[in-house]
Amino acid sequence: MRLDIISIFPEYFAPLDVSLIGKARERGTLDVRLHQLREWAHDVHKTVDDTPYGGGPGMVMKPEVWGEAIDTVAEGGSPRLIVPTPSGRPFDQELAQELAQEPWLLFACGRYEGIDSRVMAEYSSRMRVDEVSIGDYVLAGGEVAVLVMVEAVGRLLPGVLGNAQSAVDDSFAPGSMQNLVEGPVYTKPPVWRGHEVPAVLLSGHHGKVARWRRDEAIRRTVRNRPELAAALDPETLDKHDRKL
Ligand code: ADE
Repeated sequence: MRLDIISIFPEYFAPLDVSLIGKARERGTLDVRLHQLREWAHDVHKTVDDTPYGGGPGMVMKPEVWGEAIDTVAEGGSPRLIVPTPSGRPFDQELAQELAQEPWLLFACGRYEGIDSRVMAEYSSRMRVDEVSIGDYVLAGGEVAVLVMVEAVGRLLPGVLGNAQSAVDDSFAPGSMQNLVEGPVYTKPPVWRGHEVPAVLLSGHHGKVARWRRDEAIRRTVRNRPELAAALDPETLDKHDRKL
C-alpha cells in the first residue's frame, strides 16, 4: 500500500519508523512518503494560511497551496484522499478495514481552523474524498489523527501482524466481535500478588475458554460501553449470551 502524507510538520511522523509499521515499511508492505506542504508555497515566508472569510478567530489554509501539493503528489493516479478534521465522519474499525483494502491513500493534514473547503470540493470529482474524525475532541492539527489511522490501517495489511488471528479477535472486529470490546487478558505467573488467573484459562479446554472470553467481552462492553451494548443486535447473540 502506498501512503502519502502532506503536512507542515512532517517530523510528527517519526514514529512511523518504529515497531510494526516501521517493519512493514522496511519490508515494502507499506510505502510511506512524507511531504512538506510549504514546498508548494511561493512567497518568501512560505505562507500556507490566511484570515477566514466572514471573520472570526484563527486562520484557514489556502486552497492554492493545497491544490498544487495534491496535484503533484497524486499525479498520474487517484488515491483516496483522507482529510482529518473533528467535523468528519467517525473513524472506526470498519473504516480501518475499508481503508486497508485501498492501494493508495493520501492524507492531507490541516492545521489552524482547517483547509479551505473548495479543496475537498475540487478533488471530489477526481478521487474519493473523506473527511474523517478520530473522536469528539479537538486536536491542534491532523497529524496525530493520521498517526492513529495509519497504525489502525497498517496493522490490518497482510503480513504486518505476526498472528493474523489477532486482528480477528480484536475489539470491534467484524464478525463475532462486532460492537464488542475484548475482555481481560493474562499471562504467567498463575498467581501474582495473590491475584489468580481465572482457572478456565489454565484448563486447556478450548471450547470453555472461547465461551469464557465471549462472556467477559459482553460483560466489559456492558460496563464500559453501555451505548454499544444497547445497540447489540439480538440476532447476533447466542442463547447463552442472551442470559447474561
Ligand atoms: N484535527 C483536529 N482534531 C481532530 C480530530 N478529532 N480528528 C481528526 N482530525 C482532527
